[in-house]
Amino acid sequence: MDNPEAHPLNIVQAAAILRRGDVCAFGTETVYGLGADATSDDAVLKIYETKGRPRFNPLIVHCADRAMAHSLVSFNQDAEKLAKAFWPGPLTLVLPIKPGTAISSLVTAGLETLAVRVPQSENARALIKELGRPVAAPSANPSGQLSPTSAEQVRQFFANKVPVLDDGPCLAGVESTIVGFVGDKPVQLRPGGVPRPEIEAILNQPVEAAMADGPVSAPGMLKSHYAPRAQLRLNATAPGDADAYLGFSVHSTGKVPSRNLSPSGDLREAARNLFAYLDELDKMGARTIAVAPIPGEGLGEAINDRLQRAAAPRGGGEPLVAH
Ligand code: TXA
Ligand code: MG
Repeated sequence: MDNPEAHPLNIVQAAAILRRGDVCAFGTETVYGLGADATSDDAVLKIYETKGRPRFNPLIVHCADRAMAHSLVSFNQDAEKLAKAFWPGPLTLVLPIKPGTAISSLVTAGLETLAVRVPQSENARALIKELGRPVAAPSANPSGQLSPTSAEQVRQFFANKVPVLDDGPCLAGVESTIVGFVGDKPVQLRPGGVPRPEIEAILNQPVEAAMADGPVSAPGMLKSHYAPRAQLRLNATAPGDADAYLGFSVHSTGKVPSRNLSPSGDLREAARNLFAYLDELDKMGARTIAVAPIPGEGLGEAINDRLQRAAAPRGGGEPLVAH
């Protein structure tokens, strides 16, 4: 039977799907999100079911603008500075949830804080505005797998069962940077699309990475995540004969299947290509993907974080201690 939702959606149609309490994937500048009305328990439950996501792992709520975020959480001064500097954009703030908001308690998984962000993608913001309510959205991948950076990847993941608002390829390619607070002290809960030095420059102080067993952490930072089928071998300056190779900058691949994250050594380009190239090499069937060393500074922190989780032994439920 012809399914109208298999055809390209426009914003009004996507908002209608969310309004009736169903999930709809949509593009953001970081990765595609699997969205649901954040005020509906039933709708939010469908996110966890569709992804196979553990219920202890809370969701990010996407807002159309700063005013919507202010209606949900209490900002301290530093949070306000960061929101002004980076929104709309790839930054998520974890802040105390205001009493009496309509957000479903399934979104926060019982925490007293809520993660909020205003995405840069105009279509994403238009969708939230059209719905008129905040949209809960994790990355649109089955739990534990690579994050999708194109509508096509989302369709493949969920066998065309999830409608997708196509926003083209994602510009940043890694998820948002998450910042929370221990008292008034800012901590980075996840490296991401906004490099840590840029956050430190706005706050005029060093921002440490949160320890997994510290007072504030992101419950979803599992040791094994973003896992392709192939095993990953990191910091490989050259591939073995049976490997596929994910290069960076100048590298020699021999005759094995390969992709180069950025021939010119540009970390932005590398972040944008990371998940798509891992997926492409994985689909070529190599048992091992050897990955070139990637510099750790700037966006390299987020890229190396994702690679380490992709390389970790599978099924590892314990959190990776933040580095
Ligand atoms: O770029 C992104 O952030 C993408 C796009 C779709 O916006 N979303 C995304 O969502 O990466 P997800 O669910 O894959 O990752 C959300 C992370 C998880 O590690 C979760 O544990 C953490 O945010 N998180 C959510 N609420 C939190 C809270 N109240 N306190 C601490 N961590 C929280
Ligand atoms: Mg995710």
